[in-house]
Amino acid sequence: MEKLEQVYEGKAKKVYRTEDPELVIVSYKDDATAFNGAKRGTIVGKGVVNNQMTNRLMARLEKAGIPTHFVQELSDRDTLVKRVDIVPLEVIIRNLSAGHFASRYGVEEGIVFDAPTIEFSYKCDELDDPLLNAYHALALKLATQEEIDTIKRLSFAVNDVLKAFWAECGVTLVDFKLEFGRLRDGTIVLADEISPDTCRLWDAKTHEKLDKDRFRRDMGGVEDAYAEAMKRLLAHSEG
Ligand code: TMP
Ligand code: ASP
Repeated sequence: MEKLEQVYEGKAKKVYRTEDPELVIVSYKDDATAFNGAKRGTIVGKGVVNNQMTNRLMARLEKAGIPTHFVQELSDRDTLVKRVDIVPLEVIIRNLSAGHFASRYGVEEGIVFDAPTIEFSYKCDELDDPLLNAYHALALKLATQEEIDTIKRLSFAVNDVLKAFWAECGVTLVDFKLEFGRLRDGTIVLADEISPDTCRLWDAKTHEKLDKDRFRRDMGGVEDAYAEAMKRLLAHSEG
């Protein structure tokens, strides 16, 4: 399948049309942003890691019965996926306190929760992705009640699969962000990416950060952290 014209460019990926109207090609860039684009940079090799990591994790989720947009990896940076209309909700699942949870509620990072939490943001750069609840999402007609119920159920199921898998790799899955899309027939599937850009991944023993917080917080060692996360994943994958 060939790339035809570009239909979209986001902060970390480009999307191309293909000859099949129901399939598009996503191409992962090395561009990195944080704080809604206020901080910009390049993480060399990030696009390759994020493409390959997303695809392996999505394939694993599919096996566990979670529908995703993934079709086929085409190259280091390019992947064929089903065309979806993205539901404008960012879904965040947390297993431990970190990031905005810690700052918003005034607690330290690293508190292990008894049960995972879920929160939604309205995916809207102009408004800085404001936090909202399911009632707000319904009022804004961002999704139906049935879609929200499906998204919640799938998000916790994703957490069960990924948390267990990363644990096998010696990595604690602290939190992550998911996006969902609607296929032409309305089916909700997992879309976007699952990578060190969108997850907090800590070494299970040392708590060393293997994710984009190294870029957000100017900690250095960003490329090495992405490479290490990928290495751990590959060491525990069949293929
Ligand atoms: P937060 O603590 O900043 O709310 O982030 C929670 C998780 O969501 C973390 O793993 C990083 C991810 N995330 C994104 O993927 N995109 C974003 O724009 C933000 C703010 C967070
Ligand atoms: N989504 C944020 C941005 O685009 C990045 C982040 O903090 O993950 O700037």
